[in-house]
Amino acid sequence: MCRSKNQPFFTFVSAERFLGSGKYSHLKKKVKTQFVCSSCGANSPKWIGNCPSCNAWNTYHEEQQLAASAGHAWKIGEQENVPAKPIPISEVQSLQVDRMLTGDSEFDRVTGGGIVPGSILLIGGHPGIGKSTLLLQVAMAWKGKTLYVSGEESAQQIKLRADRIGGIQDHCYLLAETNLERILLEVQKLEPSLLIIDSIQTVHSSQLDSAPGTITQVRDSTTMLQRLAKETQIPVIVIGHITKDGSIAGPKVLEHIVDAVLQFEGDRHHVFRLLRTIKNRFGSTDELGIYEMNQGGLNAVINPSKLWLNQNDAIKSGNAVGATLEGQRPILIETQALVSSAVYGTPQRSTTGFDMRRLHMLLAVLEKRCGLFFGQSDVFLNIAGGLRVTDPAIDMAVLCALVSSLEDIELAHTICFAGEIGLSGEIRSVNRLEQRILEAERLGFDKIFISRYHAKNMDFEPERIQIRHVGSINDLYDEVFGER
Ligand code: TYD
Ligand code: MG
Repeated sequence: MCRSKNQPFFTFVSAERFLGSGKYSHLKKKVKTQFVCSSCGANSPKWIGNCPSCNAWNTYHEEQQLAASAGHAWKIGEQENVPAKPIPISEVQSLQVDRMLTGDSEFDRVTGGGIVPGSILLIGGHPGIGKSTLLLQVAMAWKGKTLYVSGEESAQQIKLRADRIGGIQDHCYLLAETNLERILLEVQKLEPSLLIIDSIQTVHSSQLDSAPGTITQVRDSTTMLQRLAKETQIPVIVIGHITKDGSIAGPKVLEHIVDAVLQFEGDRHHVFRLLRTIKNRFGSTDELGIYEMNQGGLNAVINPSKLWLNQNDAIKSGNAVGATLEGQRPILIETQALVSSAVYGTPQRSTTGFDMRRLHMLLAVLEKRCGLFFGQSDVFLNIAGGLRVTDPAIDMAVLCALVSSLEDIELAHTICFAGEIGLSGEIRSVNRLEQRILEAERLGFDKIFISRYHAKNMDFEPERIQIRHVGSINDLYDEVFGER
């Protein structure tokens, strides 16, 4: 972009002054009404019962909105008036992005190696999962000045939490404010190097008539923060509430506006918390951060498999360990099955952390291909530690846990499994097998069962762990439980 050396990169203009100034004063009065779908954010000039965009019923609500550009209290010098010209891609200068490390190893990993200056991140998660705690930790670990804006708690409440976490820093500023224009003014005065907004649903712009939390407010406030980030290069992290079905409250468009969407999840009854990337314009979406929530806040988990492996030695039948992948991280997880004779006419099937339909499929395969009948038995399946596993590589461990419980044969606690089960009873290969094998070896397992079909293209030889190749569930049965 052409900009003379002396020209400031941006100027801060207060919302009132900006809208009041001659050229834009008309925007102050120009109000239009529209109906917005609270599920997907589509809008229409008339009320509609059934949203044509997301098919939801009765989700249209009336909202008043200022004309298009009214929300832009942020104004860049004169740049807006410079018309852009098309340039050949080869002539565009590559941007060297110096990522800013947050000081939190898991957060840096998930963002793809630190935060990119001028980017805006959205982090969603269920209430009470620890979003505010995580970002307060990030704010305090950050090397420069940070501004933590909370619309949900007072500065005293945040201080209480900070005392719990420890490591209070002078350069972390708190602001209990919900008015967007006032937040922007404070940013202008303080000039922090990181801005955190907790949460976007509480922020409202006085230029819009709709209530805080409405789609127009959430969307326009995010757009304004995005402009702030782009024009000042201050990275902004925004917390977003999520709805019952797990999507970020407010329209889907919110996810389009921001550069990265992170999801903070976990089970409130367990200590671990997972930070996943759903979208990342500057990095991979396969990354996973693992934390443990304890008395002093969130701690990064360096050795995740420890969380999900059985700690006691008294292993009973029905337990098997699967080498799974979460994001790009190999994790060994204990699966537990209990097969008992059904008391009532219809046998029960119940799962925790595993897909019920997948369990039905595995039972059907065992019956059809292996002659093992579960028709008269109740089957309970549990992934230990409260984790939800969707990686198909866990199939083989689940299958062995089921057979182990049915036959009441204990499995040695030094063996583990990584393979997907096909409908004809074949054991299929899974991705990133080397990583899984190395993790199992590191944790002291001495045997791992994998698919025979992977053998051809494996060119590494682990030292301490023995690799067993199996082709079908019958081979697996013979190898693990002995010949029938
Ligand atoms: P919080 O960050 O307020 O959640 P969110 O912002 O996602 O709603 O986290 C609240 C929970 O975290 C609360 O139930 C208590 C727990 N917690 C701890 O267990 N240890 C701690 O050190 C802190 C600060 C919170
Ligand atoms: Mg909170």
